[in-house]
Amino acid sequence: MHCVRKVTEDLYWVGSNDRRLELFENIFPIQKGVSYNSYLLLDEKTVLFDTVDSAVGRQFLENIAAVLNGRTLDYLVINHMEPDHCALIEDLHLRYPDMKLIGNAKTFPMIDQFYGMDLGDKKIIIKEGETFSCGKHTLHFVMAPMVHWPEAMMTYDETDKVLFSADAFGTFGALDGVIFNDEMDFDRDYLDEARRYYTNIVGKYGIQVQNVLKKAAALDIQMICPLHGPVWRSNLSYILEKYDIWSKYEAETKGVMIAYASMYGNTENMVNVLAAMLADAGITNIKIHNISKTHVSELISDSFKYSHLVLAAPTYNNGIYPLMANYLEDMKALMVQGRTVAVLGNGSWAPQSAKLMEAKLAELKNMTLLTENFAVKSALHDSQMEQLQELCTKITDSVNA
Ligand code: FEO
Repeated sequence: MHCVRKVTEDLYWVGSNDRRLELFENIFPIQKGVSYNSYLLLDEKTVLFDTVDSAVGRQFLENIAAVLNGRTLDYLVINHMEPDHCALIEDLHLRYPDMKLIGNAKTFPMIDQFYGMDLGDKKIIIKEGETFSCGKHTLHFVMAPMVHWPEAMMTYDETDKVLFSADAFGTFGALDGVIFNDEMDFDRDYLDEARRYYTNIVGKYGIQVQNVLKKAAALDIQMICPLHGPVWRSNLSYILEKYDIWSKYEAETKGVMIAYASMYGNTENMVNVLAAMLADAGITNIKIHNISKTHVSELISDSFKYSHLVLAAPTYNNGIYPLMANYLEDMKALMVQGRTVAVLGNGSWAPQSAKLMEAKLAELKNMTLLTENFAVKSALHDSQMEQLQELCTKITDSVNA
């Protein structure tokens, strides 16, 4: 049975949800599922904006047929060629053989790469700023390169002032019947997942996101229709401001995120002592993660969120504890920058981890280090409590600055 929602007088959400997939991109745990959004415009011509992942293909095709109600599909606009949005192109091409595909010069080579399809005269190649009339509605195309693939673009419906924003402004988390931001408690139910989605998938491309935000500022946008998560039809400044903060790599909150690795509980004890000292000093916005039990995507998300980070790990094979090393590599890949960081090391005979972690952090942009080779041997002892208290004071002063 079809399952659709009306978005505007002429526009329908025809996407679907996947609550069975364990790992998005076979990397990211999605305990709350994910939605694959697609939108169908009924005008003099019928126009579909993107398709969906193959996992929900059957539902999607049923949705389209129901909304078309006997009409044919005239056009498919392809804003993004990642397979979670374009997997149904070939099915649509077979079901609606007269359908034409609208994309940019980088879109069609990717269709050929993924699906080996020769679309011949079915291709309509558009450029930045070009428009296309569907009858009552005029579409205006806005390129969004590297947000987060090179062919990504957005489509702006000038008539209804709707921006089809591709992956931008999307989030992990399935849509539970409600699809509009004002039908849900976004802050409570989606914000953390929206941050985790943005920072891990688009986080590397802050400059490109800033470029797109500047283009968006020139448009009168009343509604944002992303490819994942809720449709924004009110309070658009909320999500635009979040994207502005994230893409500038600014912290969302003044506070301390502590990520630790601990083999036998001694490094964990050290961070617990430090966290208690911070709380005694009035810093209560503290989040502690055991990195052995926290997916690295959550660590990255909180690295974007918090102004101050504490990283603590034992030495392992004369190097950095592997999960901490992986987190540091991810920080570098995703351009985490501009944070104030303290590092706590541990080692029973040759403690190396603090020095090595600090060297890795020095490879990131604009990081301020509050420690220099702070390391314990096996466990925290009374002799180092004064040094830890001094570190607590430095962190406290910096948070309060
Ligand atoms: Fe949701 Fe970049 O694909």
